[in-house]
Formats: sequence, structure tokens, C-alpha cells
Amino acid sequence: MEKLKNGEVWRDVEGKEIHAHGGYIIKHQEYYYWYGEDRRENFYVSCYRSEDLMHWEFRNHILTTESKMEGYRVRTKLMLRKEDGGKVNLERPKVLYNEKTGKFVLWVHFENGTDYREAAVAVADCDTPDGDFVYHGHFNPYGYMSRDCTLFKDDDGTAYFISAARDNADLHVYRLSEDYMNVDCLVHRLWQGEYREAPAVIRHEGIYYMISSFCTGWDPNQGKYGQAKGMEQPWTSLREIGDETTYQSQAAFLLEVNGRLYYFGDRWRGSGENYFRSGYVAYPLEVKDGVLTMEYCEEISF
Ligand code: GAL
Repeated sequence: MEKLKNGEVWRDVEGKEIHAHGGYIIKHQEYYYWYGEDRRENFYVSCYRSEDLMHWEFRNHILTTESKMEGYRVRTKLMLRKEDGGKVNLERPKVLYNEKTGKFVLWVHFENGTDYREAAVAVADCDTPDGDFVYHGHFNPYGYMSRDCTLFKDDDGTAYFISAARDNADLHVYRLSEDYMNVDCLVHRLWQGEYREAPAVIRHEGIYYMISSFCTGWDPNQGKYGQAKGMEQPWTSLREIGDETTYQSQAAFLLEVNGRLYYFGDRWRGSGENYFRSGYVAYPLEVKDGVLTMEYCEEISF
């Protein structure tokens, strides 16, 4: 049976390296769509699709420096390039499908490409999962800093944006508006002063689990998780998961496949050219006696 090797740069069906770090996978109709950072050329976010999570077909560079820009009802700053023409920094893109509007809505951490002080979030959307997304600019939710982030869609369609605030000290949970185009309410400020990054959420048998990393840049550290009976319910304090490096990875997202839970992460190799040697990992998750556990493995299939 074919397997994907953890820590390697996985390849698409044409044998080319997949550029989708800090990513997210959603299932739409018969396909899984994988969105992630693509730092090559003038690209920001790329999209791949697969029917089995093993064979990935490149679909599109859905967000680039040339993407169409359009303001919307919320005041944002439309900036896909620096004044000198260089790229801005878009990290950890996540996409949800909104049943009510029929749109695919993307949220991504925005930095201005010069320093790391913008700590904002940018929004884009599209009528199809892998078309050219329209960029709607960046903002600070209720004025807060917003860095490492994720999205989570609950069973009833209510969606949440989770991001690191106050220089990463606290993790904020925002309920989104019905169209997923804005934050509607700050429902939690979790784990005050614990510096959690790379949040990733999954619901399993009525319990919500949120895995995150500590704040050590590209270096891996001990993963931790909290759980709750609902996104807006009280969350437990943090418990450790995996080993002291989360098996050499940082969380990207969590996914349920055929009733089994998986953690997907990045094995970062650093900045500059090293970034492109960063690999992907997926580890099985299991709930045992009420405790979420992660199993180390060298390779994986789904
Ligand atoms: C990590 C973060 C990554 C990237 C990196 C840069 O903490 O999770 O997405 O921003 O820092 O140092």
C-alpha cells in the first residue's frame, strides 16, 4: 500500500513538490481541497485537490500579488504588495464553504512584509473552491492583534476564527457573521499568557478539541490541547499531547477521515530558502479514556 513519508515534502500527481504549508483541508462534494502557503514567485496561497488524500492534483494559485482586490462593507486595507513592489506576508490560510452564500471564504494571517507588527487578518472569497479568489484586505478584529490562526465550522454552520492576540500571549475565539466575512463576537480569550500558536480544532463525538503549539518561531515544541463541550462553552486548561517537539512538527489543522482523526502539521526547516525544504506530517489522533493522544509514525496512509 502506498504511503506518505512524514517529514518529507509530499508531491502531487505530476511529481512536483506540494506548496501548501500552514494549510487547511476541507471536503467539498467528492473532493478534498488542500489550501496552504505558497511562497514562490508572486504566489500567496495555492490549492490542490484529491479524492483520497494521497493523490493530489494542483488546481490553482488562488491568491497572488495580482489577485483582484475589492473592498467590502467592512473597512480594511487593500495591500497585496509593499510600496517597493515586494511581497507582503500571508500565513496559515484557511477556507470554509458558506452554505448560505455559496461562497468559499478564506482567512489568512497578514503581515506587511517589512516587520511583524501588523498582526492582522485578511479575508478573500470565491464562487468555486479553486478559482481566483477576490482579496478584500486586512484588518485587526476589534482592534486586536491577530497572528497564527485557524477557522472552524460547527455542525450547524456557525463558524469561528481563532487567532493569537496580545503579542501571542492569548488565544482569541471569534464567532463569525453568517456570511463568514467578518467577526461578529469575541466569545473567548483562552489560556491567558500561555503563548499558544498554530491553533487547530476538531469536533469528535460532541467534544471540541483544540491543539496548539508554544511560541518558538520555526522550532518545534511541546503540543498541548484543551477541550470543551462547545466552542462557546468553557475550555479546560492545557494538557500535553505528543512529545516535547510534537514529533517534530507544528500543527496546521485536524481532520476526520472515515471516522478516524488525524493531526496534520508542518515540519519547518526555517526561513529563506530553507523554508522550501519544510515537510508535511500527519499523525493519527485517538481519544482514550477521555484523553486525546497522538501516535508517532514514520509514514501514513488514509
Ligand atoms: C511560527 C508560526 C509560523 C511562522 C513562524 C515564523 O511561530 O507558527 O506560521 O510564522 O513562526 O517564525
